[in-house]
Amino acid sequence: MTWLITGGAGYIGAHVVRAMTGAGEKVVALDDLSAGVPGRLPADVPLVRGSSLDGGTLKRVLAEHEVTGVLHLAARKQVAESVAQPTRYYRENVGGLATLLDAVAEAGIRRFVFSSSAAVYGDPRVDLITEETPCAPVNPYGETKLAGEWLVRAAGRAHGIATTCLRYFNVAGAAAPELADTGVFNIVPMVFDRLTRDEAPRIFGDDYPTPDGTCVRDYIHVADLAEAHLAAARRLSDGDPAGDLTVNIGRGEGVSVRELITAIGEVTGDTRAPLVEPRRPGDAPRAVASAARASELLGWTARRSVHEMVGSAWRGWQLHQAADRR
Ligand SMILES: NC(=O)c1ccc[n+]([C@@H]2O[C@H](COP(=O)([O-])OP(=O)(O)OC[C@H]3O[C@@H](n4cnc5c(N)ncnc54)[C@H](O)[C@@H]3O)[C@@H](O)[C@H]2O)c1
Repeated sequence: MTWLITGGAGYIGAHVVRAMTGAGEKVVALDDLSAGVPGRLPADVPLVRGSSLDGGTLKRVLAEHEVTGVLHLAARKQVAESVAQPTRYYRENVGGLATLLDAVAEAGIRRFVFSSSAAVYGDPRVDLITEETPCAPVNPYGETKLAGEWLVRAAGRAHGIATTCLRYFNVAGAAAPELADTGVFNIVPMVFDRLTRDEAPRIFGDDYPTPDGTCVRDYIHVADLAEAHLAAARRLSDGDPAGDLTVNIGRGEGVSVRELITAIGEVTGDTRAPLVEPRRPGDAPRAVASAARASELLGWTARRSVHEMVGSAWRGWQLHQAADRR
């Protein structure tokens, strides 16, 4: 098998490349480098610079590399940007996926894994979110992921492609410092950014109906997430693939914002008290995965702790800070 990994030079994509090649899988990466960093990829992994919106390039890559399965991670992922630019998000996330699925069907490829997100659930108000929990995204980014899942399943049925949608929860950490997330869009880098500026971390709302009043999330180490892709790919490559599967990828354990900031304080040694600010609109009080289906059907369970996640993210942050200073 040869797997095409779209968004392969991105934060998660580069970890997936590493997990797949480390397990002996043959891969080719495609990335338009709008957010990707070529240096994240090992020298022996071919990187094609191109977009999922470019059918001609996709057709050529699938043929030249004799691709037999696709892991599709390329997407825009910033919630606030999706609210400001919904047409761009639909065009790139859903349109790019449609173009890719056309190329996949034409090439006769029968295995497809799609990067979905817990954002498809919106604010479900349940203790543990199962894959049967109704989906009601609350922003255009989440909508593009849900529409993407529908499209993946419909194309799978129409063209005999076995499909898997992985709904990632809150991703953090790095398998190696040079693979760390360089954006400041998620809570872990946002807290690091505050500390680096000699400012206290911020908590948005401490009056939620949760044990310590702050929002509770399910944080997953990106190296565990990458291993989930390997498990999904292996499941599709065993025997004759068929059908579709939708799976939550989380630890199944809730961590509050206050607990996370405490863990960050332990790792960084900067234990200053956080500032409590008003709630932000659209933040769900609690979003924690049921990880049962992933364990049962993929034979995969997250292994790494929140402490490991924060520690590895901090080493990556420091490396990037040092590089920026040079
Ligand atoms: N980071 C998270 O917490 C998280 C959570 C849930 C789901 N996801 C999903 O995981 C995937 C990867 O996210 P990430 O955090 O690694 O983001 P990222 O921005 O680091 O990676 C995305 C990569 O895709 C590339 N790309 C974007 N649009 C493209 C296109 N049209 N054609 C080709 N390449 C394109 C970018 O250059 C980038 O390298 C995305 O689909 C995202 O929606 C991420």
